[in-house]
Amino acid sequence: ASFTGLTEAIVYIRAQTGRLVVKAEGLAAGKGVILCDHPEDAVAAVRDILEARVFGDAGRRVLIEEYLEGEEASILALVDGTNVVMLAAAQDHKRIFDNDQGPNTGGMGAYSPAPVVTDALWPVIREQVFERTLAELRRRGIVYKGVLYAGLMIGPQGPKVLEFNCRFGDPETQVIIPRLAGDLIPALEACVDGTLTEAHVRWRPEAAVCVVAAAAGYPGPYAKGQPITGLEAANALPDTYVFHAGTKRDGNAVVTAGGRVLGITALGQPLAAAIRNAYRAVDLVHFEGMQCRRDIAAKALRHQR
Ligand code: GLY
Repeated sequence: ASFTGLTEAIVYIRAQTGRLVVKAEGLAAGKGVILCDHPEDAVAAVRDILEARVFGDAGRRVLIEEYLEGEEASILALVDGTNVVMLAAAQDHKRIFDNDQGPNTGGMGAYSPAPVVTDALWPVIREQVFERTLAELRRRGIVYKGVLYAGLMIGPQGPKVLEFNCRFGDPETQVIIPRLAGDLIPALEACVDGTLTEAHVRWRPEAAVCVVAAAAGYPGPYAKGQPITGLEAANALPDTYVFHAGTKRDGNAVVTAGGRVLGITALGQPLAAAIRNAYRAVDLVHFEGMQCRRDIAAKALRHQR
């Protein structure tokens, strides 16, 4: 349910039985989400959002949702208006520190494939998430072409949608695109032309792992302008790609210019090799205060045991 009025929101909260999540309904850079174990936490959260405006205008309206248990996965699909081709599943790592500790970020790393999306779940997600959404868009007269990103919670209740984005995901894309066996452009052209088929997307067997190198202090205030070394050496490793995010040129040097600075990605088979390859590249790169998680893809290894 969503509310602009504090009283109505509190009446609604008191009528619920399970744990709740309270969100600022506007965009709050991924920070406007409060997990509430007790009804009083939810009441405090709606007060903070609607009354104290801790998320500014993003908090003109609150959204109150059931608390979903499980593991998150991102599935990006190509859509040509009618046909849907789901890309390989990926998993983001939203918290700043290892073992999912600390505040949320824009994403500290990703891996693909994501074994939490089992073979049995693919047809369920196709029908219940993508086909249904496309049918509703069509019913509303909307011809959607491009990338449809579903952020899912996979848990005992089955796959549930947390969010849709009408764009590629970051850092998910850094692990999906390198796994393509063919060229992405014909698939994108087929989206435009309305001729998309499964044959447009083929996969390499290797897994991919992306580790984000972030500036000291991120996701809080951070310094900029730190010279980055080791980029060429890391890029020269086989099947390794150093994607630039918050960087800029300063004369002959490359310096930091954002919170998430680089997405250092490597392929490998099995997944453990991709993890080793990615961290081998990470360890060649340096800038003052560089921070990265050391447990990217560890969850996937636990699925394999
Ligand atoms: N990785 C989350 C996003 O792109 O929204």
